[in-house]
Amino acid sequence: MCGIVGYVGNKNCVPILINGLKRLEYRGYDSAGIGIVNHNSITIVKNKGKVSFLEEKVDKLDLESEIGLGHTRWATHGIPNELNAHPHANEDQTIFLIHNGIIENYQVLKKGLQSFGYEFKSETDSEVLVHLIDSFTKRGHDITKSVQLSLHEVEGTYGLAVISSKEPDKIIAARKGSPLVVGIGDNENFIASDVSAIISYTKQIVYLEDGEIAVIKKNEFTAKTAFDNEIEKEIHEISMTLDEIDRGGYAHFMLKEIMEQPESLRNSIRGRIIDEDGRAILGGLRDVVDKLADSKRIILAACGTSWHAGLVGEYMFEQFCRIPTEVEYASEFRYRNPVIEKEDTVFFISQSGETADTLAALKEAKIKGALVLGICNVVGSSIARETQAGVYTHAGPEIGVASTKAFTTQLTVLALISLLIARKKNLSKVDGQQIASELKLIPEKVEEILKLNLQIEKIAEEFKDASNFLYLGRGYNFPVALEGALKLKEISYIHAEGYPAAEMKHGPIALIDENMPVVFIAPKDSTYDKIVSNIQEVKARGGRIIAIITEEDEQLNKLVDYAIRIPSTIRMLMPILTVIPLQLLAYHIAVKKGLNVDQPRNLAKSVTVE
Ligand code: AGP
Ligand code: GLU
Repeated sequence: MCGIVGYVGNKNCVPILINGLKRLEYRGYDSAGIGIVNHNSITIVKNKGKVSFLEEKVDKLDLESEIGLGHTRWATHGIPNELNAHPHANEDQTIFLIHNGIIENYQVLKKGLQSFGYEFKSETDSEVLVHLIDSFTKRGHDITKSVQLSLHEVEGTYGLAVISSKEPDKIIAARKGSPLVVGIGDNENFIASDVSAIISYTKQIVYLEDGEIAVIKKNEFTAKTAFDNEIEKEIHEISMTLDEIDRGGYAHFMLKEIMEQPESLRNSIRGRIIDEDGRAILGGLRDVVDKLADSKRIILAACGTSWHAGLVGEYMFEQFCRIPTEVEYASEFRYRNPVIEKEDTVFFISQSGETADTLAALKEAKIKGALVLGICNVVGSSIARETQAGVYTHAGPEIGVASTKAFTTQLTVLALISLLIARKKNLSKVDGQQIASELKLIPEKVEEILKLNLQIEKIAEEFKDASNFLYLGRGYNFPVALEGALKLKEISYIHAEGYPAAEMKHGPIALIDENMPVVFIAPKDSTYDKIVSNIQEVKARGGRIIAIITEEDEQLNKLVDYAIRIPSTIRMLMPILTVIPLQLLAYHIAVKKGLNVDQPRNLAKSVTVE
């Protein structure tokens, strides 16, 4: 999910690779490495942490080569350390590769390779690829064919680049689900996961598509399908500025990350559902799943947006797992001397895995003897390491301070955990299958909702000068009301509050007049009629209403001032859909106010202080 850069030509590739990696650094990374070939022997240098640490190491070695690969890693399998950093090489030190993405069937492949005597040095899924390729070269195939045959056996996603010291004139690159481009130069060619890594050398870019394999030499570039058919590729001239490229062509990271959600949700679900049994498999919980299912109580502790995800989790766990569940602010939990029993399970939810309050609460829960689990995005982060087991959300690096794709993938993981436990308890196969199939449809539905971007931008124009906002929702969508309000507060500095819709009449209704926009989250579910009454109450007091409604709804459409119609799903998954328009609304209001969306005032991406 992080960065790839490669070079073949007449120049020394080492500074080109290091510069390319620096350009990719902004996405977040945990380790970096380069691999080069010189006089038919390979040299690999890797380091945990920043690219500058790698650079210092490389500088001391005085390396030179005309072909090489560089990688920044965003770990998915195995902690960030030097051993797990890429490139990975075969035993003979003749082939090395870098990989972005996830090899889903790596365990099966690994067992097979081990039975043929292959030894693994790292904990990564990526390392299976290099041994698999090696096994084909040992059967007499050249490197290109070996890569191609290996990829037939692989399930998952990859942006992949491979070099063999026996054929040191070429880079083999392949893509499925992870971006990869080829840069065409004069007597030199490049590959990269992102044009920003190579744009200072060439503006002539070829975009590889899923399933394509490219062979890149200094004066030649060919692309083939997985089944060996040659493909004519078009060369594009890039006119974007470096800044625009970093943000994937979007004006801000936040918008990029909102738009990336179909992809991050797919990554979060990938390989974790067994359709025929209607159940989930979560490798990270394998050893604790029985204890988890037998918990007397579940506590979800987190801060900010992650706390909102916890609130949705409470609804899920109680409805499907029938386990009493509580949600705690980590900051309160740590100081309250909470009552925690040995039969309790405490989940800590954190995008960064470094939030100081959450980490301190974790330590407290551990002392009290509970089963302590994590739901984190950043692999190998402190919370991921301190918990006994857990699940990664696989959202990919989140740069914008306002959390978006991390939230929706947290909800996805919570749904998967509910399915896992519920099927162990009393959920039927048929009901499990329904949840599983609805989950799989979520990314497509999010794609549909993102098409409403322009409509939401227009609504933002109408409301950008408001000084207060109220967000109301019921049941599963009450936490979404809180999250919508938080998004607006964080980046537009407009005061906003989220409430359970029925609570409105117990106080906030006093605030309502024509200057108070009210955002209702009102999908057609069991509380729909009640929320319609709440909407009538606001209307009667002159309040202006924006409502998130589901497509089949013909009633609210007419009643509210602005209706945002989105596809429907089962209740437990609805928050993943309803929150998307609220992210876009907050985003557009902040942009229209001319504010710094990605780095709002007074906020930090990861709050590592109390
Ligand atoms: C979300 O938009 C915020 N920036 C903030 O509330 C954040 O969710 C909170 O600080 C928790 O961070 P974490 O998930 O990295 O632990
Ligand atoms: N899955 C691989 C790993 O954990 C690649 C991660 C990446 O995309 O950076 O090493």
